Amino acid sequence: MELTKREESEAQRRQVMMLDDKPGVLLEEAKPFINLMMQYKCAIMEVETKLKVLDAEFSQEYNRNPFESIKSRLKSPLSIYEKLRKKGYSVTVNNIERYLNDVAGVRVICSFPDDIYRLADLLSRQDDIEVINRKDYIKNPKPNGYRSLHLILSTPIFLSREKKYIRVEVQFRTIAMDFWASLEHKLKYKKNIEDGEAIARELKNCSDFIEALDYQMQGIRDRIDNAEAGTEEGD
Ligand code: GTP
Ligand code: MG
Repeated sequence: MELTKREESEAQRRQVMMLDDKPGVLLEEAKPFINLMMQYKCAIMEVETKLKVLDAEFSQEYNRNPFESIKSRLKSPLSIYEKLRKKGYSVTVNNIERYLNDVAGVRVICSFPDDIYRLADLLSRQDDIEVINRKDYIKNPKPNGYRSLHLILSTPIFLSREKKYIRVEVQFRTIAMDFWASLEHKLKYKKNIEDGEAIARELKNCSDFIEALDYQMQGIRDRIDNAEAGTEEGD
């Protein structure tokens, strides 16, 4: 469900009015939501740390980094609202936890496809992590050409009074896959685009190129690595 600009500013105006009227009531009602968002933020930190630990170990052992960068995001309140409504649920704190998997999102950008699988496996096998869902859009790309490996993980966070499991969506992409997805995302949210179909075809074409490029680059890396292994140290 998309809110029109007018509905959006009306909702914002109502929020400001409520804040003017009874700031105490509003803030009290918002507490469980703010608390849950804090927990999602902590879960992002946990997953990021796990990835950084793997990165530190890997780079010491193999002299290169398994990922280029991590981008994390917390879903905005408006997107949470829209997604729950679209799925037909009322917007409550309980329903956010029960029905949404992507409030906490971590995107891991790797250079090569094999690093994606290595990292995803190492993370999935950690004994405090539970894999709720795994979608391999690299082996099985979406019809539009979208490629990524998606994991829905449940990770523990340690609060002062409890240990709680929180779901985090982790997307693994190569730099090229991420480049592609950012451009395609723009097309998805642009309405009434004139030659949309032609652009979609060309994007699909680019996705095929990118797939070939990713594996070709990986092959070159292997050849360089093997050549290095055969060279005397200090050469
Ligand atoms: P959402 O309801 O959109 O979250 O999809 P889903 O629950 O079916 O899960 P899926 O694993 O297919 O997609 C989750 C996320 O992956 C999306 O929110 C996007 O961030 C990303 N994604 C999935 N498909 C595409 C796509 O075709 N193009 C782009 N750019 N991103 C995609
Ligand atoms: Mg999503």
